[in-house]
Amino acid sequence: MRRALEELKERAFSDIAAARRRDDFLAVKTRYLGRRGLLTELLRSLKDAAPEERPALGKLSNDIKEAIARRIDEILSAIEETSKSEARVRERIDVTLPGRGVRYGTLHPVTQVMDEICHIFSLLGFSVAEGPEVELDYYNFEALNIPKDHPARDMQDTFYIADEIVLRTHTSPVQIRTMEKQKPPVRILSPGKVYRPDSDVSHTPMFHQVEGLLVDTNVTFGDLKGVLTFFSRKMFGEDTNLRFRPSFFPFTEPSAEVDIRCVMCKGSGCRLCKQTGWLEILGSGMVDPELYKVVGYDPEKVSGFAFGLGVERIALLKYGISDIRLFFENDKRFLDQF
Ligand code: PHE
Repeated sequence: MRRALEELKERAFSDIAAARRRDDFLAVKTRYLGRRGLLTELLRSLKDAAPEERPALGKLSNDIKEAIARRIDEILSAIEETSKSEARVRERIDVTLPGRGVRYGTLHPVTQVMDEICHIFSLLGFSVAEGPEVELDYYNFEALNIPKDHPARDMQDTFYIADEIVLRTHTSPVQIRTMEKQKPPVRILSPGKVYRPDSDVSHTPMFHQVEGLLVDTNVTFGDLKGVLTFFSRKMFGEDTNLRFRPSFFPFTEPSAEVDIRCVMCKGSGCRLCKQTGWLEILGSGMVDPELYKVVGYDPEKVSGFAFGLGVERIALLKYGISDIRLFFENDKRFLDQF
């Protein structure tokens, strides 16, 4: 029996030496020391040994059992250590590496200019009012004193959704919507999208306007000039000169288009201003009393002015851009400049 035990020990150790991976070692352990393992089997024959030899054989088999178990456990914990430290190396964070930059978006130049316009007028006490882009014919035309046979209503100039529903062609309908809801004094600004079936270097089918409306008692054309002069100088510089040119809009009387001295040639004449020295930036006028009747204001008691600015046009002039369509092509190289 002693020989059998010594042999078993030798075989176990050579199996251990041949094992490579964690599972191999566990298998060796089970093969020799498991409940139905080789050593356990061998111990069954202990009862056949001479009684005086049994204690020594028992001790020997215990020693062998422990020796095998210890060897395997040592190897297993060494394997464990190695894989842990390998993982540490693999997962180590190098805090000295440069960070990955966060890429910020920027506001679209049209949005930036629109915000700036709203800011300048807010200094004069104007607050923002908004209206729908899909608008009733009534607000877009009728209530603004644009009768059915007016050329502005020609199919060529308006996107019709249905008989009485259009994509608004200007922000002026917000004038009516505001006055219907609110008694004077009124001092609002209305930024937003407008639509006209036009497309070339200076027109896109959708563009932005900012409408202004001020109604109170004793408002004069002088107030209109003062407000627009203040705006233009804040927007284009304190030395900006303005020209009020008589014009016509069905909803203002008198009406004026406002030009600024050409931002490029300062008035001497160039390609941008088509040699005139002036650039048109907005339409304006004193609110036509017809509109007061429509919204239930007393034309004898109140007076006011309105104006409408083209935002892309202002942005073009401010940044010296030659093609309005650049604003809508979403070319990052263009947009990144703002
Ligand atoms: N709504 C006019 C346009 O789109 C501009 C305007 C607004 C003119 C307010 C006068 C008063 O051309």
